[in-house]
Amino acid sequence: MASPLNRTLVLTEAERTQSVHTVAELTKRSPRSGVYAGDVLAALERLPSHSFDLITADPPYNYGLDFGNDSDRQSDRDYRAWARAWLRLLWRVATPTASLYVCCGWEYSGFYQEAIAEAGFHLLNRITWKREKGRGAKKNWKQNMEDIWFAVCDKKHYTFNLENVKLRKQVIAPYRENGAPKDWRMGEDGKPFRMTHPSNIWSDLTVPFWSMPENTPHPAQKPEALAERVLLASTDRGDRVLDLFSGSGTFSVVANRLGRKYIGIEMNEEYVRYAMKRLAMTED
Ligand SMILES: C[S@@+](CC[C@H](N)C(=O)[O-])C[C@H]1O[C@@H](n2cnc3c(N)ncnc32)[C@H](O)[C@@H]1O
Repeated sequence: MASPLNRTLVLTEAERTQSVHTVAELTKRSPRSGVYAGDVLAALERLPSHSFDLITADPPYNYGLDFGNDSDRQSDRDYRAWARAWLRLLWRVATPTASLYVCCGWEYSGFYQEAIAEAGFHLLNRITWKREKGRGAKKNWKQNMEDIWFAVCDKKHYTFNLENVKLRKQVIAPYRENGAPKDWRMGEDGKPFRMTHPSNIWSDLTVPFWSMPENTPHPAQKPEALAERVLLASTDRGDRVLDLFSGSGTFSVVANRLGRKYIGIEMNEEYVRYAMKRLAMTED
């Protein structure tokens, strides 16, 4: 029997057979916010030009996970050719000031660095997410990280809302100048803190656990807090977000909650239904 603390979302019988929107419904005219079932390549051909301010791509990492399809079990050669194919289609749908975030494991990180630049984007950073839950190995170091490449269309013009994503850090040595705090404030807990610039190493974000209400059975679900950091930094209210390989819908759910328009694309209809359930929950 499931623990009473287990808050993993489960689809009801009715939700399991609910109809879904498909990429065939996407038109070159502004599509409605929603998560659409179907292939990313097909969707990218159908979406209107210059219409997304932020593109997030969380593709299969080719780890052999079961997403109900073979996308995570491709030969190395097929995987690279396939990833190049969808990356090449991103430029047309991005606005001139758009940002792009592409998630990957260390195995394909070097590949994505090259392929994103080949697709016309300017790389600005590699974020490393240190997950506290890793994949152990007997004859290798435990795989405990994921990379997220951050790129933009135009190095001079893009959104980056630094103030939205500054992090609170406790100050160990609170210096004073003429009796006044130098660059810190006193927290309500009586501890001195300052707001610091977020670095490209993210070690404060946990993977979704079964005790968390955002958790679904998706085997590679991203935490909402990670999506929130990306969206708060790289979009404004009303901006349009393209969530490729949306899985259980994490980036779309957060986009919706933050007042952004969004299109999610996911091949597995069951995951699309989880995304729909999560979206309905954010609207309650
Ligand atoms: C790493 S997971 C994404 C997880 C997602 N960000 C979340 O938080 O749940 C990759 C997803 O890509 C989907 N996928 C794989 N190939 C696809 C394709 N060609 N078109 C659309 N979705 C695809 C898989 O079914 C899987 O759900």
